[in-house]
Amino acid sequence: MAKVLVVGGAGYIGSHVVKELMRSGHEVTVFDNLSTGQEINLFQENRFIRGDIRNQEEIAAAMRGQDAVVHLAAKKAVGESMENPMKYSDNNINGSLNILNAMVEAGTKYIVFSSSAAVYGMPEKEEVDEDCPIAPINYYGFTKAEIEKFMGWYDRLKGLKYVALRYFNAVGYDADGDIRGREVNPQNLLPIIMEVAEGKRDKLKIFGSDYPTRDGTCIRDYIHVSDLATAHVLAIEKLMSGMPSQALNLGTGSGTSVKEMLTAAEQALGKKIPAEYAPRRPGDPAVLIASAAKARELLGWEATYGKDERGMVSIIRTML
Ligand code: UD1
Repeated sequence: MAKVLVVGGAGYIGSHVVKELMRSGHEVTVFDNLSTGQEINLFQENRFIRGDIRNQEEIAAAMRGQDAVVHLAAKKAVGESMENPMKYSDNNINGSLNILNAMVEAGTKYIVFSSSAAVYGMPEKEEVDEDCPIAPINYYGFTKAEIEKFMGWYDRLKGLKYVALRYFNAVGYDADGDIRGREVNPQNLLPIIMEVAEGKRDKLKIFGSDYPTRDGTCIRDYIHVSDLATAHVLAIEKLMSGMPSQALNLGTGSGTSVKEMLTAAEQALGKKIPAEYAPRRPGDPAVLIASAAKARELLGWEATYGKDERGMVSIIRTML
């Protein structure tokens, strides 16, 4: 049992991580400023501190007595990060440094950091492993890559041990229905498809139909959020039993195109979902699929949700 501070624990991925940590018997405290996180995502028996990582004193006070940190507090809209990099410097970079400094001060040794496939930019290989060059093409991805480097230095200089989990495309919701908050104004494919299906939006715009893929639309590696959550618990436990610091990809290892995702959603919801082709979105790689072999080997982790179209249908059902 470890005392774990989950920073950003009221958010989409954070709330799922909290659930898995509690299920594994850890003592969890959530730290969140509720800017995008939601109160409805907090489990009652949890301790909750409303605070902001940009405030050094608030995060330092919350850190005292904690064995480990899961850090998921970040701005994550790729487009916005290109228009307003200052916001991303402040929240993602300054906020993360405050967390690392608070850890040193409190003697908290272990951190699991939510990184992203965005650190790879436009990878040359279709199946991306952790040795692919770090070359972000948007400011959001840049902030994640920099924080990974800061953690490397804090390991060398202060003995802090970290796992950077590079998520591919997180999707779905807790299948038991325990997590009820839904993202407000979502920017990602699947929640947008759901909003179109509910009539909140007119139609899905499919960004690009001329990519060199099997149906001309972009391919991504969609990984269920509860599978991501399990990996965080394993990462903490492995770190605490001596695993060295590292970065690990989290994905299923297989890809789904935008069109296939739309078809899967139509199947799951039993209705036609209006869609039209639109121009390519700048900065979108054609194919982005994880090699998750390293996470499998080091954490003994495996995605449980299926990888094909049927798997996507079952993921979409967790969103209903
Ligand atoms: C991006 C980031 C990822 C980050 C995530 C968080 C990159 C390469 N990836 O993922 O690291 O964690 O955002 O927000 O920077 N699409 C449409 N129509 C839409 C929306 C999306 O066709 O209305 C397509 C996109 O072109 C893409 C796929 O759906 O091919 C998935 O898009 P999205 O959900 O936005 O995620 P990524 O851009 O892959």
